[in-house]
Amino acid sequence: MSDTITLHRPDDLHLHLRDGAILEAVAAASADFARAIIMPNLVPPVTTADTIAAYRTRIEAALPKGAAFEPLMTLYLTDDTTPETIDAIDGVAIAAKLYPAHATTNSASGVNDIEALTPVLERMAERGILLLVHGEVTDHEVDIFDREAVFLERVLDPLRRRVPSLKVVLEHISSKTGIDYVKSADSGLCGTITAHHLVIDRNDLLVGGIHPYNYCLPIVKRARDREALVEAATNGDTRFFFGSDSAPHTDPKKLGPCGAAGCFTAPVSLPILAHVFEEAGALQHLDPFLSRHGAAFYGIAPAEATITLERCEPYTLPPIPTPDGPIAVFDPGFALTWRVAGA
Ligand code: NCD
Ligand code: ZN
Repeated sequence: MSDTITLHRPDDLHLHLRDGAILEAVAAASADFARAIIMPNLVPPVTTADTIAAYRTRIEAALPKGAAFEPLMTLYLTDDTTPETIDAIDGVAIAAKLYPAHATTNSASGVNDIEALTPVLERMAERGILLLVHGEVTDHEVDIFDREAVFLERVLDPLRRRVPSLKVVLEHISSKTGIDYVKSADSGLCGTITAHHLVIDRNDLLVGGIHPYNYCLPIVKRARDREALVEAATNGDTRFFFGSDSAPHTDPKKLGPCGAAGCFTAPVSLPILAHVFEEAGALQHLDPFLSRHGAAFYGIAPAEATITLERCEPYTLPPIPTPDGPIAVFDPGFALTWRVAGA
């Protein structure tokens, strides 16, 4: 049993860094990563080449001095996005994000008519810009625990048939159905998996009281779904890679009568993953999950530099203060016994 793990500097291929004071407060927590795909769901959303470039500049300014972290920027798709928008963002953004309108935090400007977006998606395919998908339907009659499965059948499968050459990432897969769907695709489809979906299920959200820090979207599901996610992440399958979906909210937003969705995992995602992969007897698959599978699908050079995780005494991390209240760090429900060496 080794007490250190050396990894290539990892990629977080789904990250919310927010803006303003929260960006300032959380940016350092991702600085061990080589790169991250930055989500564009600001208010207002990041919908043009100019706003993407300006947001990137604000992120770079918020990072600790000397941090070797590259933000990989994305476009927020709306009903008003045109093929010309795609031409304009080529070279500025690597991917575009599809939020079905009202599916999750800050998605009110998301897409209502996904079929009408086909010319935009075709232009993305031509230019090699990836489509990142929040895979949940929003129909009121669909149960929240079924929204991912219904999305695959009603929305994603037809979309992929309409634009077969488009590269698609099904983000933050939360169900066995989602895992099986990615596995069934011939090519052009991969999925990100978060750290929190690997370690909590809906009992951790709802048994013994409501646990608002475990509330995120897609909502955590049954133990068997979590087990399917662990199997997919830890078995070396190149179609799955890490996207933390670290989504900071202040306590006043998380703990109110209508608590916000999102788990702030950035400071603990690597220790959680080391724990999960070690428990699965699959530490040899951790490095490719974190730095190889995603880079290959995105067509970006894999990181060469390394970081080391070291085993340590159990610890917990305090909330991060902001002018709008503290941001609690996600608690996986077990003791953290790995940390980044030299951090
Ligand atoms: C994310 C957020 O807070 O921006 N929330 C979440 O529960 N994951 C949005 C998202 O990725 O769905
Ligand atoms: Zn997200």
